[in-house]
Amino acid sequence: MTKRVYNFSAGPAVLPEKVLQQAADEMLNYAGSGMGVMELSHRSSTYQKIIDDAEAGLRKLMDIPANYKVLFLQGGASLQFAMIPMNFGVNKKADYINTGEWSGKAIKEAKKLGMDVNVVASSEESTFSFFPEVDVNKVRKDADYLHITPNNTIFGTKCMDVPKVSIPVVADMSSNIMSEKFNVTDYAMIYAGAQKNIGPAGVVIVIIREDMIGKIKGLPTMLDYKTHVDAASMFNTPPTYGIYIAKLVFDHMLALGGVEYFEKLNKKKAAIIYDAIDNSKLFKAHVKPGKDRSLMNIPFFTDKEELNEKFLKQASAEGLVTLKGHRSVGGMRASIYNAMPIEGCQKLADFIKKFDKENA
Ligand SMILES: Cc1ncc(COP(=O)(O)O)c(C=O)c1O
Repeated sequence: MTKRVYNFSAGPAVLPEKVLQQAADEMLNYAGSGMGVMELSHRSSTYQKIIDDAEAGLRKLMDIPANYKVLFLQGGASLQFAMIPMNFGVNKKADYINTGEWSGKAIKEAKKLGMDVNVVASSEESTFSFFPEVDVNKVRKDADYLHITPNNTIFGTKCMDVPKVSIPVVADMSSNIMSEKFNVTDYAMIYAGAQKNIGPAGVVIVIIREDMIGKIKGLPTMLDYKTHVDAASMFNTPPTYGIYIAKLVFDHMLALGGVEYFEKLNKKKAAIIYDAIDNSKLFKAHVKPGKDRSLMNIPFFTDKEELNEKFLKQASAEGLVTLKGHRSVGGMRASIYNAMPIEGCQKLADFIKKFDKENA
């Protein structure tokens, strides 16, 4: 490839071209420091400004109240699957909504840590092709938290309605953070791996309400949220470059009009692709039309494996790449995070229509 492609990867994923350009421009000499960001000491005032600005940008974008702490951690969203029960499991009881592979992994980890796990709703029996209704009466009042995954990267479902429960709600927003507006105050904690809507892999963002911190004593230092809150994400060397790119992404998003702007754009982008699939003869989306469809991840397929293969090959030749579906669903998956331009979605939709006409 001699030019940039439309990259539909589920993550690490496309980043705004403007951000990559700015990072390239600043690669060798950041803000007159005579060195690149990767070479800056995390204890320097130049770097402190980067992390402070990153936090301020995220707070502004998500309207995060003062009683929530923002952390930039490592270990991916997967480490959060363990840190959550470790830090919040006072009664050793947790309720989970099972909406796909990632919530399944979170459940597994909680069980490993000796939690009594109650799955209050699940769509597993229909290959997670819808977002299950939650009967709030099934949520235990003495559970330490209710865990939800509002957007399912692999199966392409989403639901931003937060069950009205009295226990803390914890959400894995790895694949939909900042894709649409929601109230941070509906959650006790939100976490997200950066590599989809935020920046490079290696950073995980945690937004945690103050009363959730320090519930359990004696945890290993690095696995205790209190350590990272007390040290403002600088207990040890943070993923400095990833946080810098996240800051550039936040600045870029704010300049364009914030989450509201992206929500509108994301709805248009998703509709362009869903319409092409729904109006075709050959293609079917994994999730049926309606409110459960993700704005970020669209799994779709034909009913013939050789047609899926042909589609992927021809799409790739057109510069529409990384469309292969996850092995558990098969077919194709278009991940269209905030940084995917609408032109990429249009090009994919046009290609779906053309392929349908030629092969149906
Ligand atoms: C919803 C969700 N949760 C968790 C993960 C795992 O993230 P990580 O690789 O950062 O551990 C992913 C990765 O795709 C995801 O989509």
